[in-house]
Amino acid sequence: MPIVRLLREASLPGATVFQANPLRAVNLEGHIPQDKIEEIQRRADIVELVSEYVTLKKAGKDFWGLCPFHKEKTPSFKVSRDKQMYYCFGCAEGGHVFTFLMKVSNMTFPEAARHLARKTGIVIPERAMSDQERRQYGLREQIYRANEAATVFFTGSLFSAAGLEAREYLKKRGIREDVVREFRLGYADRGGRTLKGFFEKKSVPLEVACQAGLLVAKTEENGENRRDVYDRFRGRLIFPIEDAGGRVMAFGGRVIGQGEPKYLNSPETPVFSKGRNLYGLNRTKEGIRKSGYAILVEGYFDLISLWNAGLTNVLASLGTALTAEQVELMRRYTEQVAILFDGDEAGKKALKRSLPLFLAAGLQARAVVLPEKNDPDDYVRRYGKESLEELIAGAPTLVDYYIDDIMGDQGTLEGKQNAVKEALLFLSTLDDAIVRNLFLKRIADKTGIDQELLKKEMSRPRKTSAGPGPQRNTGESTLRALDKVEFSLILFLLQHPESIAKVGETGVLDYFTDNELRDLAQTIIAKGLVEGVADPGASFYLDCLDDGPLKGLIVKSLLEGWTDDERVCERYFTDMVKQIKRKCLKRRSKALTIELGKAQEKGDSEWQNRLSLEKTKLVEEEKLL
Ligand code: GTP
Ligand code: MN
Repeated sequence: MPIVRLLREASLPGATVFQANPLRAVNLEGHIPQDKIEEIQRRADIVELVSEYVTLKKAGKDFWGLCPFHKEKTPSFKVSRDKQMYYCFGCAEGGHVFTFLMKVSNMTFPEAARHLARKTGIVIPERAMSDQERRQYGLREQIYRANEAATVFFTGSLFSAAGLEAREYLKKRGIREDVVREFRLGYADRGGRTLKGFFEKKSVPLEVACQAGLLVAKTEENGENRRDVYDRFRGRLIFPIEDAGGRVMAFGGRVIGQGEPKYLNSPETPVFSKGRNLYGLNRTKEGIRKSGYAILVEGYFDLISLWNAGLTNVLASLGTALTAEQVELMRRYTEQVAILFDGDEAGKKALKRSLPLFLAAGLQARAVVLPEKNDPDDYVRRYGKESLEELIAGAPTLVDYYIDDIMGDQGTLEGKQNAVKEALLFLSTLDDAIVRNLFLKRIADKTGIDQELLKKEMSRPRKTSAGPGPQRNTGESTLRALDKVEFSLILFLLQHPESIAKVGETGVLDYFTDNELRDLAQTIIAKGLVEGVADPGASFYLDCLDDGPLKGLIVKSLLEGWTDDERVCERYFTDMVKQIKRKCLKRRSKALTIELGKAQEKGDSEWQNRLSLEKTKLVEEEKLL
């Protein structure tokens, strides 16, 4: 039963610790009891709150003003007192009192809640934590504090006499002081015990500093077996790595000039995981929103250098291969990414490896290959911002890039055959019919093989398999139509939290085809079940949403008053659940048919049997709906 799993995951302290969603983390990081949050939400008034920042005019039931989140001359920012929500029709920002404060004054959820509590005269008692929670929470909190203290210390050193060498290095690389300050760059001197001394003076426990990866402990073998603790970063330019909310999670350190290793990074710690974060996000998310796309680079220095040149919409991976989690993180801020990797072989390989990640996340990506083995920093310094922007604008989509790359080596007939085979194989793994067709067309152009012929080649296994019925219908995936039903179910959940348990029991989550929507529905259901809130109103659940187009759409739909007719509700949701299940079963069955074809082609009868059995099960399940 999926519900059981949900409950378990949702109530496990460790499981929520790393999640970016503010409300989910609140019990650990903010210790604000749920009933208090609801009370704050009841007492605070969105119109009053927004009025502190925006001049609002009443029009009918609603209030309108100039959006604080983007530049505009005519008001498209709407605030509804009834619904206690706001929405901007210009930039699609929307939410409730908490999100407004978080966004407008860059607060975390607990900070926003505390702020509103003070204003509305609500006293928040400190909840007693379990021992394990206290240890976990305590350590994480202490690490953040140690990191923040170290950041201040490092920036201080950079601008002190000791930091002269590092300042000159930055100057040599053309980085302006305002950029250095914006990114809080710092310097760790060569002493080896300077930061340790600072921590001792400030009474930061050295054990915490070790856990933060700032100090390193070494046990000395000679004689008394003494434990020696010293600074991890020595003689390095320091890049503090912040999360999206501005907290310093970790550090990267570059040698000044030549030396090994060139970059030294913090290890994985209780507050830092390389594969789940992106460098620069906190500073560049605004630029990304405004420009509508993100530039992805590999190095800290590349990001700093691009910002220095006036490009403020940049993100950098953290020195490892790009992960699905990082791509998901990007997707919260934009749907379009220009990947700017080095022009060398390693860069090209990394580019190719990232394609499935971007396709799976439904992000539009362009592949920008820099000429003459430049890296982004070299390029922008040599040719300037405009030139780089032109390069990005003219860059091929990642799909085109990939095809050109596969199809590159086809001098011989055999080479050509292999290239087509590889491409078709890759193509058959793609879910989206539009992307698939795009691929197909490009392969046809590139090889001069007729598009129809390629299509036939690709669908060959399917044709030989049992399923009769017209090919045309099965060829096109109806992903968008599916989204609509899944989306409606989410709106339904938000408007009728009393049915959360019922919806959960149908197990419909397992049938969602859109991962983002599934995660969302799952969070809403888990939240509803665990916290057992009777009917706190839709806005309560909005915290499950990360900022982005999806959230905007949901808030907009809610504000526009999606059907509220209680009588049709029951029928609505059973219908929706059925539709979602049916479509999912159809999809699985289609995939099975393709696999069956492959099994037949290979003559693998055991595989065939297994697949046929699965197919029968699917058909039966469908009949039961
Ligand atoms: P500059 O030489 O300062 O311009 O840096 P770069 O960004 O051009 O460096 P490079 O392309 O070599 O590396 C890109 C990223 O990979 C860096 O930002 C680091 O995150 C990581 N990296 C590079 N060298 C090392 C290293 O020696 N050790 C580790 N752990 N990471 C490295
Ligand atoms: Mn470089």
